[in-house]
This record gives sequence, C-alpha cells and structure tokens, in this order.
Amino acid sequence: MKILILNGVNLNLTGLRETSVYGAQTLEEINTNIKAYCEKDGIETEFYQSNIEGELVNKLHEAFLKKTCDGIVFNPGAYTHYSYALRDAIASIDIPVVETHMSNVHAREEFRGKSVLSEVCVGVVCGFGAGSYIAAIEGLKVKLQS
Ligand code: DQA
Repeated sequence: MKILILNGVNLNLTGLRETSVYGAQTLEEINTNIKAYCEKDGIETEFYQSNIEGELVNKLHEAFLKKTCDGIVFNPGAYTHYSYALRDAIASIDIPVVETHMSNVHAREEFRGKSVLSEVCVGVVCGFGAGSYIAAIEGLKVKLQS
C-alpha cells in the first residue's frame, strides 16, 4: 500500500506560523514521523507540498494517471474553503482522499467551517494537530482494506 501525503497552501510554514494553532513541529518533522509510523506497517509514503493550486491539481492528476498511490491524505489549507478546481480534481480521480486539518476548523472562524471538498472526499479528520495525519492514514487503511 502506498499513501500520498499532500499539503497545500501555507503548510510549508508549519512550526513557524501560528504555533498556538498548528503546533511547533515543522512540516519536515511531521513528515518524518508519518514516514516512520507507516514504515512499521509496511506502508510506503510520498510527500508533496505546494502553495500553488494548479500544482496540487497536477499532483492529484498524476496520482490518478500514473497510479502512483492507493490513497491520499490531503491538507489543502485555506483552499479547502473555496477551491472548486481542487474539488473537481478530487472528484475526477478514483483514489480515496481524506480531507485533513490539524486544527478543529469548526471551532474557529466561521469561514473555516465550510469545506467545498468534503463532499468528494471519503472522510474528514480535524483537530488533532499532527495526529490528524495519522488518524487520516488509519481511516484510509480501513477504506482500502474493506
Ligand atoms: C488548516 C485549516 C485551514 O482553515 C487553514 O487555512 C490552514 C490549515 C489546518 O490544518 O488546520 O492553512 O487546513
């Protein structure tokens, strides 16, 4: 099994920005822990981050067209709340995508409680800090093994 961990806009600054919301671990540290967690289970990982919407769309297309992974854990950042392009890209591919957020988006500003992506994802995880990625992986395993 191979999982793509996809991070969107501003997630490269994790550990440096709004640490009271997103924690002090950098994205690199989070990714290192995810890789180790998955390796114990024999799961392969790939990591990709971009601040550019079209590059995220391209990565979703690549996963689909080249069959590069079995499932995707996707934290789109603020694109979650308004990107119909990402929504269409997720709907276009036959790979399960879990929408993932470190913060509890429902306990924050009103605009964060709305996602245009959730409907086309297999599940949504939020509120567990870096642990949200691990929870999303566990959810994907359930989906992929059923
Ligand atoms: C986020 C939540 C989004 O609302 C925000 O724009 C982010 C990060 C999270 O991980 O909690 O950039 O996706």
